[in-house]
Amino acid sequence: MTEQHLLTGRAPAIAPADVRTVACIGAGVIGGGWAAHFLAAGYDVVAWDPAPDAERRLRDLVATAWPALEDLGLAERAAIDNLTVVATLAEAVSGADFVQESAPERLDTKVALLAEIAAAAPPGVVVASSTSGYSMTEMQTAAATPERLVVGHPFNPPYLAPLVEVVGGERTAGWATEWASAFYTEAGKTVITMDTELPGFIGNRIQEAAWREALHMVGAGEATVAQIDQAMTSGPGLRWAFFGPCLTFHLAGGEGGMAHMLDHFGPALKYPWTRLESPELTPELRDRMVEQTEEVAAGRSITRLIAQRDRRMIAVLNALAEVDRAEAAEAREQETP
Ligand SMILES: NC(=O)c1ccc[n+]([C@@H]2O[C@H](COP(=O)([O-])OP(=O)(O)OC[C@H]3O[C@@H](n4cnc5c(N)ncnc54)[C@H](O)[C@@H]3O)[C@@H](O)[C@H]2O)c1
Repeated sequence: MTEQHLLTGRAPAIAPADVRTVACIGAGVIGGGWAAHFLAAGYDVVAWDPAPDAERRLRDLVATAWPALEDLGLAERAAIDNLTVVATLAEAVSGADFVQESAPERLDTKVALLAEIAAAAPPGVVVASSTSGYSMTEMQTAAATPERLVVGHPFNPPYLAPLVEVVGGERTAGWATEWASAFYTEAGKTVITMDTELPGFIGNRIQEAAWREALHMVGAGEATVAQIDQAMTSGPGLRWAFFGPCLTFHLAGGEGGMAHMLDHFGPALKYPWTRLESPELTPELRDRMVEQTEEVAAGRSITRLIAQRDRRMIAVLNALAEVDRAEAAEAREQETP
């Protein structure tokens, strides 16, 4: 096989829109969550997991998730009965149009398992790993057909959180990354296709920065777990659900937007507000932030963005208040003799 052939690989077996059957390999928290998502999106799901109690856990997880999925709206042919649990990996992947691997986060397990899946799956079928942080380059080393292996990193629970981060390894063919991104989009996910293999991808790096700082504050006795969770859910977390940290800070700059925010608060990057080293706010970084934020703002004025932010914050607060009221009513019913 020439180097060129290795990089371009085979053509995909099927168009993303024609996928009918998805194999879920590993069916714990994430594999089970993927199974629930694919079932709700109208696919047949074939699952395999070596644990003796895996089928019971999987069926319980899907049954628990189903009412929320019904509320969100099921695809036309969606049914819990479209889930089959099989006894071997080969049986699970032999008839699959796409494979989602969600085994434990250990590199040796992933390397061996992805090689086994690649040997058993039909030619041209794309195989995605749910890994939280390994690169596909390190996981695809033992596979005979590495060109069709990609990372498809979800957020928990995969049946509710829309995000999937897709990235290939050094030996992944471009068509496989494109195919996976198109397929996940068909299946109702919000896809970020990354060109660079970044440890932890994007979402985890942002989450991990906040997490490490929280651990430092608790460790140093500076803040309690309750204070940290309250600060996040009543403050930044509420806004990050819809605008993200960059567009949020665009509004921290008033009429001057991101440019004013960086020029005004840039020196604060040097204050000891986090244990993480801040990047140097070079003119290039400043301009890149301003330009890319303007792209995200897509012509919306600051006034319009503020109105959009406020409506969304009120929607989230109202939705949470409704859940609180329903739970309080349930608790009262349970207390009533
Ligand atoms: N939990 C999260 O929040 C989260 C989020 C995103 C991605 N992930 C990633 O998803 C993957 C699965 O994590 P999880 O949280 O579902 O773990 P989990 O422990 O809940 O599930 C792992 C499952 O894999 C099974 N398993 C063990 N050995 C296996 C093998 N050789 N082949 C196939 N299955 C095997 C186990 O029986 C178990 O059911 C990991 O790569 C993890 O990093 C987890």
